[in-house]
Amino acid sequence: MLASLLILLLLALLGPTSSASIGPTVQRCPADFQLVRRGQTISESEVQYIQQKRGKVLPGAFKTYLESVKGTGVQLPPYVEQILESQSGAQLPTVGISVSGGGYRAAFYGAGVLNALDARNASAVKKGTGGLLQAATHLAGLSGGSWFITSLAQANFPTMQHLIFGDGNPYDFAGWLTSFSLWTVSNDTAQQATFEQEVLQEIAVKAEHFPVSVGDVWGRALARHFSNGTTLATLLANTSHGAGILFSDLVNLPTFASHEQPIPIIVVNLFSKHIQGPIFPGNNFGPNFVPLNTPMFELNLFEMSCFDDVLAAHTPLKHLGTTNDSVCATGFDEAMFLSGTSSNLWNEVNVTDGVRAAALAAASANFSTLLNATYPQPATLRLDTSNFPNPFHGVAPGTFADSGETVLAMVDGGEDGQITPLQPMLVRDRAVDVVIAVDGINDTPDNFAGGASLIATQDRMKIFPSGLRPFPAVPTSLAAFAAANLTIRPTFFGCTPSSPLAGSDTDTDPGPLLVYIANGAPPRNGAPALTNTTTGQSIYTPDEIQGMLKQTFDIATQGAIVEIDGKTVDEDPEWGACLACAVVDRVRERAGVARSGVCETCFARYCWEG
Ligand SMILES: *[C@@H]1O[C@H](CO)[C@@H](O)[C@H](O)[C@H]1NC(C)=O
Ligand SMILES: *[C@@H]1O[C@H](CO)[C@@H](O)[C@H](O)[C@H]1NC(C)=O
Ligand SMILES: *[C@@H]1O[C@H](CO)[C@@H](O)[C@H](O)[C@H]1NC(C)=O
Ligand SMILES: *[C@@H]1O[C@H](CO)[C@@H](O)[C@H](O)[C@H]1NC(C)=O
Ligand SMILES: *[C@@H]1O[C@H](CO)[C@@H](O)[C@H](O)[C@H]1NC(C)=O
Ligand SMILES: *[C@@H]1O[C@H](CO)[C@@H](O)[C@H](O)[C@H]1NC(C)=O
Ligand SMILES: *[C@@H]1O[C@H](CO)[C@@H](O)[C@H](O)[C@H]1NC(C)=O
Ligand SMILES: *[C@@H]1O[C@H](CO)[C@@H](O)[C@H](O)[C@H]1NC(C)=O
Ligand SMILES: *[C@@H]1O[C@H](CO)[C@@H](O)[C@H](O)[C@H]1NC(C)=O
Ligand SMILES: *[C@@H]1O[C@H](CO)[C@@H](O)[C@H](O)[C@H]1NC(C)=O
Repeated sequence: MLASLLILLLLALLGPTSSASIGPTVQRCPADFQLVRRGQTISESEVQYIQQKRGKVLPGAFKTYLESVKGTGVQLPPYVEQILESQSGAQLPTVGISVSGGGYRAAFYGAGVLNALDARNASAVKKGTGGLLQAATHLAGLSGGSWFITSLAQANFPTMQHLIFGDGNPYDFAGWLTSFSLWTVSNDTAQQATFEQEVLQEIAVKAEHFPVSVGDVWGRALARHFSNGTTLATLLANTSHGAGILFSDLVNLPTFASHEQPIPIIVVNLFSKHIQGPIFPGNNFGPNFVPLNTPMFELNLFEMSCFDDVLAAHTPLKHLGTTNDSVCATGFDEAMFLSGTSSNLWNEVNVTDGVRAAALAAASANFSTLLNATYPQPATLRLDTSNFPNPFHGVAPGTFADSGETVLAMVDGGEDGQITPLQPMLVRDRAVDVVIAVDGINDTPDNFAGGASLIATQDRMKIFPSGLRPFPAVPTSLAAFAAANLTIRPTFFGCTPSSPLAGSDTDTDPGPLLVYIANGAPPRNGAPALTNTTTGQSIYTPDEIQGMLKQTFDIATQGAIVEIDGKTVDEDPEWGACLACAVVDRVRERAGVARSGVCETCFARYCWEG
């Protein structure tokens, strides 16, 4: 007895130095366990979270935001102030933010735009945009965007500077540690081999009960950068590197308990061998392997959900890995495994041209070999996808193509072409009024965003419209985006809800207004472009990052090029006010108030009407 207490004490003192014993486990399910919830509604937990946030956080957050907008000195129509000052949570706008994929470039771009919306950044407040972040209820991200939002959520919502660079406190999140590459951490073959052994060992516990793949190893590699538990000094050390940080556990962090954080949503794609269909051609990311008619999945704080009508089913995130009501898994929803799934394009990179892609493909091929040698997987499983025991086995057999599969093979959330995760913002219960779409993907040859991801969502809404809210009409080609300058300045879509809507919902719901902020062009002042790095670049110096953040800050705070007194100026002094006009516009419409004052000017300047 005493001996075992001593051993326990010793273990506690040694601390979690190794991940050898960390991983998902299985046990009896709780008595009230329900594996699958059907329908296109959100969970009771999400309803509760939003209600609490509306009541306790949003009135103050919107008030602070309004102060920032008013600080620009632009005269606002009375309705804008009345709406933002409303002390009743029910009358305040609902704001969602979607951050695209695109590797580190997209992660920095996402962080840079959110910094420009952050009440904690004095420069952002001065521009009249600071404070909107604190008023958002949902924050979706996929691929590189999911690294950013997952990292932000698990680090307890620090400022973007602290998130990316750490705050110097060794016990805090140490930043993204961008002096090390993600996959190949060393040119020293022995050191690289040790790293490969370590990441493989870190999934040993999982491999006892669950399928494992390169997706798991990838998640562990990412964890060294985007989750707590690693510092520059320990990046190559054999420690736990944030293993055991569960997405479903984040609700216990102080900024979630206080409802300050928006609900993070990670989007992933299903890689189904049963589905053939239109492959979205709109971007230069190489062939996309996921046809647009594939049901898509999201991992929110509470559930893994498919809101598409063909499945319309949800399973508790906390018990991901579970396939029946008697034996329940816990610990499967490891935060960086989920983010790694959202950025798992190993199935795709293999056929992409380019020396770097070839090197990455070789590295993942090597991981495939090492993985299967260490933890042999059945020949029926792919090694390059992230494999989830299928909680929806037997569900919707007539319409869900993978209903009969025991494992769902998941991949990068942008493989269907919808690289800005907009669909979570169209879920009816979320009642999002305005979506800030932060697009940092490389649609153009020089790695700028061109609008393809919006086109993909517009196309997809024609395939899966039922039960979701309408998506505003957007142009149908990159050329049309470019010709109308929609990516070189912020653009509003859905300004006139009577214009043709992509969704087939026939009711009068106008759907959310879309504020599109693309990483679309070099700086207006002629300075060298810094925000358009390649998707594959994974080593960055602090100077490079600060340069990107600074240029992104300008993109998000300058608005359009405008004429003032016959002179062309690079920055619209009314942009802060214009953004606020967009934020309140759906509430205004519901209240039956006409747009007026600067908001009329703003909508004429920023709306795309087709
Ligand atoms: C990660 O570290 C931050 C401090 O930087 C802390 O506030 C937060 O609670 C930690 N998150 C987890 C999941 O332990
Ligand atoms: C590996 O070598 C290349 C070429 O010398 C260099 O650019 C890169 O930074 C090195 N990578 C690491 C992880 O040391
Ligand atoms: C694959 O991994 C093994 C063991 O870590 C290593 O010896 C070998 O060099 C690697 N091969 C390639 C092509 O990276
Ligand atoms: C890492 O540490 C664990 C136990 O703490 C040990 O079993 C394992 O061999 C170590 N891995 C490497 C690559 O040294
Ligand atoms: C439930 O799932 C577990 C594996 O997760 C399996 O071992 C068990 O046999 C299943 N039980 C039933 C009743 O299907
Ligand atoms: C990459 O593609 C080639 C040819 O299609 C295939 O033989 C190889 O197994 C693939 N590699 C991986 C890691 O999937
Ligand atoms: C993994 O190894 C097992 C057992 O050796 C083998 O049956 C299976 O085909 C391998 N999987 C792949 C994808 O190579
Ligand atoms: C970034 O944009 C500039 C200006 O269009 C271009 O010259 C440069 O090649 C681009 N950089 C990359 C990495 O694509
Ligand atoms: C697009 O922007 C360019 C450069 O600012 C300008 O010359 C052109 O007139 C704009 N086109 C449209 C359709 O607004
Ligand atoms: C505010 O944003 C600017 C522009 O990116 C940045 O230089 C500054 O460090 C930020 N301030 C804080 C407190 O994060």
